[in-house]
Amino acid sequence: MATPRKSLLNPLMKSRKRLAETTMRELFAADPNRFKTFSAKAGELLLDYSKNRIDEKAMAALFELARAAGVEERRDAMWKGEHINITEDRAVQHMALRYMGDKKVVVDGKDVMPEVRGVLAAMKGFSDAVRDGSIKGSSGDSFTDVVNIGIGGSDLGPAMVTLALAPYTRADLRAHYVSNVDGAHIHDVLRGLDPKRTMFIVASKTFTTDETMTNAATARAWIASALGEAAVPDHFAALSTNLTACAGFGIKSDRIFGFWDWVGGRYSVWSAIGLPVAIAVGYDNFEAFLKGAYDMDQHFLKTKLEKNLPVIMGVLGVWYRNAWGFSTHAVLPYDQRLSRFAAYLQQQDMESNGKSVSLSGKPVDYNTGPIIWGEPGTNGQHAFYQLIHQGTDVIPVDFLIAAQPHEQLPPHHDKLVANVLAQSEALMLGKTKDEVVAELSAQGLDKARIKELTPHKMFPGNRPSNTLLYPKLTPERLGSLVALYEHKVFVQGTIWGVNSYDQWGVELGKQLAKALLPKVQGTEKATAHDSSTRGLVEAYLKLRG
Ligand code: F6P
Repeated sequence: MATPRKSLLNPLMKSRKRLAETTMRELFAADPNRFKTFSAKAGELLLDYSKNRIDEKAMAALFELARAAGVEERRDAMWKGEHINITEDRAVQHMALRYMGDKKVVVDGKDVMPEVRGVLAAMKGFSDAVRDGSIKGSSGDSFTDVVNIGIGGSDLGPAMVTLALAPYTRADLRAHYVSNVDGAHIHDVLRGLDPKRTMFIVASKTFTTDETMTNAATARAWIASALGEAAVPDHFAALSTNLTACAGFGIKSDRIFGFWDWVGGRYSVWSAIGLPVAIAVGYDNFEAFLKGAYDMDQHFLKTKLEKNLPVIMGVLGVWYRNAWGFSTHAVLPYDQRLSRFAAYLQQQDMESNGKSVSLSGKPVDYNTGPIIWGEPGTNGQHAFYQLIHQGTDVIPVDFLIAAQPHEQLPPHHDKLVANVLAQSEALMLGKTKDEVVAELSAQGLDKARIKELTPHKMFPGNRPSNTLLYPKLTPERLGSLVALYEHKVFVQGTIWGVNSYDQWGVELGKQLAKALLPKVQGTEKATAHDSSTRGLVEAYLKLRG
């Protein structure tokens, strides 16, 4: 059934028709100012989006689409605390968590800033005390290892940030992350640790998530068996909106750090969920991370759409998804420390916009969120870039690169930069038949061999990419980058008319896993299940012995 959104998206097809008749190579040749026209800055973050299948008319149509879809109005409504998460009847106010202005931020008639700042102050006090050793374990030893137990938003954000900010961490205070219910995960993390010097942080917005509760129980038993039951409170802290359940687990009240239902799990790294980051890199660096996000929020809230980085990236994603039908989007940081960035963005983007029902509850008849994936360069180059260059799918790419490395190890960084620039250039230019033939002739190959090899060595080119360039991967810059992608997801969700802030799609699997547990434990028969599930349960029970 047609929805009004489709009529918004349809005008893009005119631009697509025009651009399908040309190539980026031609567009660059025709316009020496293309980089200038199609690049924009937010603070020190430069976005080059000139290597896209766009012209000024197409961009104008895309900004018009964003306006017609109400991106500005909905952005302002979000910031005003309106319940834009309609299915859970909640505000979406993660921007308050990093707000550094002096105005009130109101949610449900109340200024939330005093509570936000109160929790941040408690996080500062606690992280400082763990770092300087004044908070000790039950045996009087200071902590050397902090293990965060959480999953999804209670894991991916802090784990990604801790890794990204490795230059700001201390060798004598390590942060570990346990998420999977697979016992191998916690086993392998605990194997090298000393219970006397290990603190656990149980991170769960709901404090009911099965994986997290199972891992927390295992960690609790590990401490109790090594140090005695009485040691448990000294070795645990909790981050949650469910303060009662934290207390029920036996966590001391001054070690429970709260947040609020208007913070979505995948938008929670700025809240108490960031505590392991504050411990690992120090509170000042955590605050700088918040500051970078605040700067991006101000850019998003105040900059006109045509110069607004999250809007530009958002509409380009819509362009490729809806006008060109590309189904995946790769995020390829040329930064080893951003090796969990794509995994983090998978939740942020795919849990947000992986929806096929519009806000009004009607099925959409256009594509919504793409598959997000990626690995750091240059590793990806030797793995999956073959398909990006010569495969049958076109995959729009975001490249990320810092101008300055943290290490002074020439020539590593220059090589890294040369590689990222080479990739976007190669994707855009491709290699024509004439170029291949000239190259093979110069190598002295005979005509027959040239004919045989040419189709294999041609690159179609015209493959789109954005490049984000920033001075250095500091806490501040990382905060800006993460907030940039958050707002990009918002822009796209608004254009697609979906609720980016619920995640009902994860519920069915949870329900069925609960129902299947007694069957795989052998205490109930699997008779009510389909023949595949029944067959697998029976085979499993035989195999496990
Ligand atoms: O995957 C579903 C989800 O609800 C995520 O949105 C959330 O980040 C994750 O589970 C963990 O939830 P919690 O923090 O409540 O344990």
